[in-house]
Amino acid sequence: MTYDMKRDALLNRRQALLLGGTAAAGLAVGGLTRFAQAAPVIPLPLPRLIEARNSEPVTLTMQTARHAFDAGSAVATMGISADYLGPVVRVRTGETFAFRVENKLKEETTLHWHGLLVPSEVDGGPHNTIAPGGVWTPELSIKQPAATTWFHPHPHGNTAPQIYGGLAGMMIVSDGGDAERGLPHSYGLDDLPLVLQDKRFARNGELSYRPDMMDIMHGFQGDTLIVNGAIRPLAKVPAGFVRLRLLNTANARTFDLAFSDGRSFFVIAGDGGYLAEPVEVKRLLIAVAERYEILVNFADGRAVDLVTGPNPDEGMMMGMRNSRSGGRETFMRFEPAPDLSSQVTRRPRQLAVLDQPDPSIAATRRRFTLDGMMGMGMGGRGRGTGMSHMMGINGRSYAMDRIDFTARLGTSEIWEVFAPDMAHPFHVHGARFRVLSNDGRKPLATQSGWKDVVRVVDRAELLVYFENPAPVKMPLMYHCHILEHEDNGMMGQFAVA
Ligand code: C2O
Ligand code: CU
Ligand code: CU
Repeated sequence: MTYDMKRDALLNRRQALLLGGTAAAGLAVGGLTRFAQAAPVIPLPLPRLIEARNSEPVTLTMQTARHAFDAGSAVATMGISADYLGPVVRVRTGETFAFRVENKLKEETTLHWHGLLVPSEVDGGPHNTIAPGGVWTPELSIKQPAATTWFHPHPHGNTAPQIYGGLAGMMIVSDGGDAERGLPHSYGLDDLPLVLQDKRFARNGELSYRPDMMDIMHGFQGDTLIVNGAIRPLAKVPAGFVRLRLLNTANARTFDLAFSDGRSFFVIAGDGGYLAEPVEVKRLLIAVAERYEILVNFADGRAVDLVTGPNPDEGMMMGMRNSRSGGRETFMRFEPAPDLSSQVTRRPRQLAVLDQPDPSIAATRRRFTLDGMMGMGMGGRGRGTGMSHMMGINGRSYAMDRIDFTARLGTSEIWEVFAPDMAHPFHVHGARFRVLSNDGRKPLATQSGWKDVVRVVDRAELLVYFENPAPVKMPLMYHCHILEHEDNGMMGQFAVA
């Protein structure tokens, strides 16, 4: 009885949001799609910007909290110095910053700087644990080009529930050169962070994370899209070029991004920094953990939605189960506002100088096969899933006490990555790479720059550069970034010496 009442209350709440929102925003609905009719009512949440300084440490507190994803009531979440997700931390290249990471959770965690090129000792991998109530104080020397990176927990076997709960934040590595490049760079005005996720909500409105066997095999997907922790928010933007820093921190889903009116936009940067020049596209696939910076021109003054197509990577079974997701779904809406002054009205030309990657410099070649199903390891030590050790790389599940190989500091290697069963987003810690080929082709122009995650389709060849040391006691990770795959063993570790 109580249960049904709760469910009805929730349905009413959602209905009120869907139906009432349109009237409240006073939008004309004639001719709009079904999704577009549900006008967003929540302003896009803007994470607090922490400008890191050399004089005092940046404090990041990992905590449980409560957060409202829509106009309804707050539910249990986790956050980093926030009630959901974290602040955006901006650091400058060429400088060193102290951090103070506090674990106020009731469980062990770590904080990994995904995309930072730093020595393993300060990288926050599974070996770098912070006990409940503990504090970790790494110093980060930033030695890489300007880029959008991020940070998230990485505890062995328990990364998925912590990121799903809300522990993730964006980091901006800045080189101070954006005005010169002619790029938008006013945070919160024409330079917006967009953290993209999908969630499942239980009937009582709480976040629900209970992966079953299928969720583990294909990765856990939600039924509700959120941006910066809000369902279908609205951003008012200047009527000119706006820069969007896209970060996919879903557990598993690849988003197939586009704008509802089919307008083209310009990709200016990937995981590791700027592309040589803007690349014009109408669609952009963003796999888990990837980042892209894009420029969108709102000069026509028209409102438009950011939408995604169905996950191209869901297996056939998943497709059957989620037959609802055949069409486009709306992430959020942009509304150009005449009172916001636009600072950039011209598209920049050259952004960076990128050399062609030269495979002949590779010291060696390694092969990695991502094994989605090594056999039924039921009753393993996975948390709640009983499926630990079901997945692996080259036939072996991740083991904390096994170093899979050692790379030589200052060299590069060709990594050949095979994804026989489905596309997997493959990621390397503390190193960066260039894509030589993927799915039998040269990389897309949008993937021609420095990267640390790549959605491997069938087979990819990467030229990986090892510029940071990693002793055997504190190795670096390489893994599939579908969190259920990673937690269930599709990960390995290497030393760099
Ligand atoms: Cu996003 Cu092992 O990292
Ligand atoms: Cu990482
Ligand atoms: Cu995977």
